[in-house]
Amino acid sequence: MARRPTPTSQLTIEPPAPTPRAPLDPATMEIFERIMRERRSVRRFRDEPVDNAIVERVLEAGLWAPSPHGTQPWRFVVITQPANREQLADAMARSWRHNLEMDNEPAEVIEGRLAGSRRRLLEAPVLIIVCLYMADSDRYPDPVRAEAERTMAVQSLGACVENMLLAAYASGIDAGWMCAPLVCPEIVVDARDLDPALAPHGLIAMGHAAADPKRRPRRSLDTLVVWDDRT
Ligand SMILES: Cc1cc2nc3c(=O)[nH]c(=O)nc-3n(C[C@H](O)[C@H](O)[C@H](O)COP(=O)(O)O)c2cc1C
Repeated sequence: MARRPTPTSQLTIEPPAPTPRAPLDPATMEIFERIMRERRSVRRFRDEPVDNAIVERVLEAGLWAPSPHGTQPWRFVVITQPANREQLADAMARSWRHNLEMDNEPAEVIEGRLAGSRRRLLEAPVLIIVCLYMADSDRYPDPVRAEAERTMAVQSLGACVENMLLAAYASGIDAGWMCAPLVCPEIVVDARDLDPALAPHGLIAMGHAAADPKRRPRRSLDTLVVWDDRT
């Protein structure tokens, strides 16, 4: 299998002309806030495909996220073929088994976790591996700024994924973020024969929820905010 090159084209898409922002349209705001509050992680999926137009909409939502210097340091690997999802699941499972054994987890715990993860990867009709791609990022001679550049890229990857999760939910599609590739990036690159410049950081499993999962509560704002308004 030949390695797929990572797209490096400098082609850009222009943002649309902004619509007037004031006064705030309460109906739009309500929908937006509802999507943010209602989105939830889905871990079980029905055997039903996802429309390709929705997959593209979700990917496009990702690229509008903020990123350091506008570098968009993310690339997306979309996997839909069952055999490819299975191969990825098997490769990551081998690595995870090794880690769980290293943690001295009981055999039944290991088997249960691996089975759950495998089921999720096989059930979800669409997997999007979200990769960090640092080739366009700034280089610095000192470790502080070099590390900050990388941290910023990772931060923006989170913003990118959140855009995608919200777009999926708004499109009537369900999704869940999985961190599995983060602990075995080379294995994922090898398994899917990707460009070694890609560092898989996460995976979005997308499909139609088998059941509506419970929404998890959140800490209230007053437990999260320090109003530093001393004069
Ligand atoms: C960086 C990151 C990694 C995550 N990795 C996993 C994961 O590997 N498996 C999983 O089931 N959920 C994962 N999640 C989802 C969280 O468990 C979930 O967002 C959290 O419990 C809140 O639930 P909600 O998304 O339903 O609101 C991850 C979330 C983030 C932000």
